[in-house]
Amino acid sequence: MKGLVLAGGYGTGLRPLTHTGPKQLIPIANKPNILYCIEDLRDAGITDIGIILGNMMPEKVQEFLGDGYKFGVKLTYIVQGQPKGIAHAVNCSKEFMGDDSFIVYLGDNLLKNGIKAIPAKMVDEMADCVISLMPVKEPQRYGIAELSEDGKKVLRTVEKPKEPKSDLAVIGIYAFNSSFFEIYPKLKPSWRDEMEVTDAISLLIDSGFKIVPHRVEGWWKDTGRPEDILEANHLILDGIESSNEGVVEGGCSVLGRVRIGKGAIISESSVIRGPAVIGEDCRIGPNAYVGPYTAVGDRSQVISAEVEDSIVMEDAVINIERKIVRSLIGRHSRIISSSGLLPKGERLIVGENTTLYL
Ligand code: DAU
Repeated sequence: MKGLVLAGGYGTGLRPLTHTGPKQLIPIANKPNILYCIEDLRDAGITDIGIILGNMMPEKVQEFLGDGYKFGVKLTYIVQGQPKGIAHAVNCSKEFMGDDSFIVYLGDNLLKNGIKAIPAKMVDEMADCVISLMPVKEPQRYGIAELSEDGKKVLRTVEKPKEPKSDLAVIGIYAFNSSFFEIYPKLKPSWRDEMEVTDAISLLIDSGFKIVPHRVEGWWKDTGRPEDILEANHLILDGIESSNEGVVEGGCSVLGRVRIGKGAIISESSVIRGPAVIGEDCRIGPNAYVGPYTAVGDRSQVISAEVEDSIVMEDAVINIERKIVRSLIGRHSRIISSSGLLPKGERLIVGENTTLYL
């Protein structure tokens, strides 16, 4: 079995963070979303993996993942370019897949319990396709599955229905065999002009192929919006263990489960309250407070500030006597005090599509 991870798309819901790179590289508890997907595939025994690249700085994905060797997998890059739909992206992998069956993992999905059950289901039930399902509160936002009364058969899957007939979302992990490529030429673009994966699944059903539903246990997150990223950060941080490869100077306290990276220094009366992760070579202090559910990326600095329930990406500087909560701070950003500067006032250099609550 092979794997396919989708790293294309526009990432409009996460601008401006996605003006400078694909959303799949946004770090959650200091690890890019796409790496969780690759690790899940590897842990399910799938190491031959294709990566679909879009046109939002795809080179950054290649730079980060390389040939996959250091993550224990072998990666092949497949260019999709314009995002013409998930089914279109999958069809781009036709040559790479050959006659193998494969698991498609959307690079912005995160799953608590991994995907180990799916390859077995494909084989044991002699399925042509396995779809993963989870009840959701807003079914209008997802692909939705309609099942038979006994819940064993998938009747249809519909993309973001206005009037959903069930609350079971088809989450972004699918198993297919080569029947996908057989039916693809018959697929038509949807009203939003995309080749929808849910339409491909319905077409497989109508063509007589066997679709098996798989109910997912534990949490699942689609990290398409800022609030989803913060929620995913919560969920991952809830499961971390304490470790310290840095230096915590006297007079500082580290409370609860906190992971401190190599070369990080916590100094002068600073407090870290877990669950939290502090990356490598960070400087926390003097007089800083990093509160629960915060991830501070490698080489970042938090000075005099309080930061809680937030993601601070790599190489950022926060040096201001203010409290920052529920925030996403992009790589190389600087939030610094304007006190002493004239004329008085907030000074902002704000990228496109930014929201500031001051
Ligand atoms: O997260 C689950 C949902 O994902 C499913 O319930 C929906 O059925 C499915 O269509 C998808 O919906 P989204 O609206 O969230 O899809 P999005 O456009 O965000 O794309 C999902 C991932 O696939 C994302 O990592 C970008 C990538 N992608 C997307 C498109 C449209 C590509 O690589 N190429 C594409 O052409």
